[in-house]
Amino acid sequence: MVKRLLRSWRRRLSPSGRAGDGGRTGYARLWDSVAHSRREAMQAIAGHDDAEEWERSGRATADDIVSETGITSADTVLDIGCGAGRVGVHVAPRVRRWIGADVSRQMLIHTRAALAGASNVDVVHLSGDGLPPSLIGTIDVVYCTTVFMHLEAWDRYRYVRDAFGALKPGGRLYVDSFSLLSEDGWAIFEQVTRLRPADRPSYSSKATTPQELETFVRKAGFEAVRVREGSLYVTVIARKPGDATSPMAQTL
Ligand SMILES: C[S@@+](CC[C@H](N)C(=O)[O-])C[C@H]1O[C@@H](n2cnc3c(N)ncnc32)[C@H](O)[C@@H]1O
Repeated sequence: MVKRLLRSWRRRLSPSGRAGDGGRTGYARLWDSVAHSRREAMQAIAGHDDAEEWERSGRATADDIVSETGITSADTVLDIGCGAGRVGVHVAPRVRRWIGADVSRQMLIHTRAALAGASNVDVVHLSGDGLPPSLIGTIDVVYCTTVFMHLEAWDRYRYVRDAFGALKPGGRLYVDSFSLLSEDGWAIFEQVTRLRPADRPSYSSKATTPQELETFVRKAGFEAVRVREGSLYVTVIARKPGDATSPMAQTL
């Protein structure tokens, strides 16, 4: 199991498979360059292009987000780093409005295509410098899955802070990443460590720790913070203080 995971992760360590140009402004260029076709985007995101597995994993993540944040059909939901809509196609039918946001215009093309039949969907192109002010106070639930390992820590925190601003009072947040403190996360970290620095892709997935994510979420002002640690991932679920607009927010 761990071996299979490592094989898949080796392909995902750098979506380009070679050293990128580094730097925070490279996000859009890198992800655009690996998402020309839907298949290519699937490979870059998931390390495979198996449609059945793509569907299964997207649905499983969506189910988890819905149950952990108490999403209801009245909610406006923001997916930061929505990719090709792997998760969004399963969340959008369950909410009032779903907004997919990504730094890659190519990824957004695939998201639009995946959700073409839905009338409650919008996409937002991100500059790579946080969320646009137009979203402030408009969102009930923000989620961001399988994205933070590709970001510098500053940019992770920036999204957590901006998510706080985008949420309505009582709004909920769901973020995850792979954890240095997990068994499989440590194995991946060691594998990248074995590479010579010159061979290490600048976009190699970077681990986080439960403590880092929890710190970001608390410093941004969230409350009711829950940290869930798995064999690879750490997930943090939290709530913005204030009157909940959705009764489900009270269940957090
Ligand atoms: C591994 S994929 C995950 C996609 C999707 N969340 C999923 O789980 O299927 C990472 C996504 O993050 C996006 N991304 C990378 N850097 C970003 C940034 N600075 N801001 C927003 N999105 C970013 C990429 O374009 C890509 O779509």
